[in-house]
Amino acid sequence: MSQHKKVRKAVFPVAGLGTRFLPATKSVPKEMLTVVDKPVIQYVVEEALEAGIEHLVFVTGRNKHVIEDYFDIQFELEQTLRSRSKTAELTILAQQLPKAGTVSFTRQQEPLGLGHAVWCAREIVGNEPFALLLPDMIMRAEDSCMKGMVELYDQTGGNIIAVEECAPDQAHKYGIVGVGEAIGKGFKITGMVEKPAKGTAPSNFFINGRYILQPEIFGILSTQERGAGNEIQLTDAMLKLLSRQEFAGYHFRGETFDCGAKDGFILANVAFSLSREDIRPLVEAQIRAMVSGK
Ligand code: UTP
Repeated sequence: MSQHKKVRKAVFPVAGLGTRFLPATKSVPKEMLTVVDKPVIQYVVEEALEAGIEHLVFVTGRNKHVIEDYFDIQFELEQTLRSRSKTAELTILAQQLPKAGTVSFTRQQEPLGLGHAVWCAREIVGNEPFALLLPDMIMRAEDSCMKGMVELYDQTGGNIIAVEECAPDQAHKYGIVGVGEAIGKGFKITGMVEKPAKGTAPSNFFINGRYILQPEIFGILSTQERGAGNEIQLTDAMLKLLSRQEFAGYHFRGETFDCGAKDGFILANVAFSLSREDIRPLVEAQIRAMVSGK
């Protein structure tokens, strides 16, 4: 058993405007766009549950009530399915429904940045470590990213950030970490920089949207000034925490799709279609034909 306080809660900041997906996001939150037949947010929630997370905390905003409805019972729909003996469909709905009392919602009234969205979860998270999953990043891997992070956390405690390698000439697009000595199955993080100028990145390990953070981050966020893009930046607050606490990097080996961007979203749909036995036979030959122009 780990001597470190268990990571029980996961925060999902879903209050962003999703401007890269306008006009769709005018009325549909980007987290509800579907990859094959599940909304993006469902993949991320499943990743958290696979890692042993017990309580889901959503930081929502205006026009996001459908996310709340999605994690609730749809009484009329279920009645209709029952009256038509649609048991397979009812099972899908039952599997997707979180246990009563294990989901909380709070509102970020203004989209002041990711750091501010995380801070809005402080009262619900309380004084314990928590997982943070950016819901537009979805991952495909044998073992879920968060599961590997929790395993590393059980060895090291402290804060964990998942990272992946990018081509060195692409580092300027990401949040990049500095790499120190190995600890457990990870490494010590020595620094962090958001979108470093070309040729200045301390490594090619980029932050992929999965974190385990200690609650002291909330105190820092409460006085955090606006940074890049005039938003309250999580990276700025993590940098301050780095001077007081340990951060370990978890090297995630799998595929990540940025569903907040059009290309990532389309690629996620192709990749997840091809990894589904029921869909692959329907789409593979046609995708090949489209690509080869036949
Ligand atoms: P992004 O910058 O990718 O999301 O934030 P966005 O602002 O919604 O997207 P674009 O750039 O306008 O297309 C990363 C995550 O942080 C959340 C977003 O919902 C997203 O999941 N976020 C961002 C908030 O919850 N609140 C904010 O103020 C900003």
